[in-house]
Amino acid sequence: MSAPEVSSHRLGPAHAIPVGEGRAFAVDGRQIAVFRPRAGSGIRALDAVCPHAGGPLADAQIDHMKIVCPLHGYAFSLSDGACLNGDLAVRTYPVREEDGEIVVDV
Ligand code: FES
Repeated sequence: MSAPEVSSHRLGPAHAIPVGEGRAFAVDGRQIAVFRPRAGSGIRALDAVCPHAGGPLADAQIDHMKIVCPLHGYAFSLSDGACLNGDLAVRTYPVREEDGEIVVDV
């Protein structure tokens, strides 16, 4: 069995995501939310659709290294996508800034 293929996608200028906010991007048939937490630990990428009931996680409030879904308040770690108050989880993706652009591996 071979490992799943991963490809890099450029999502546009890194400055499009202000500190403390997130933005959603369509990547390879997925919705991915990229966040720039105030914690100063660079950008983070997670699935943009909340696994509880489809809430828009790019609109989530960022609290240090967690986000809180705007619909019903489930919280997810920006580090590993784990839900902090339930049994759900969202997938995380490697993301970086390269030559002023956001690059995510999917
Ligand atoms: S849809 Fe996100 S907490 Fe319900």
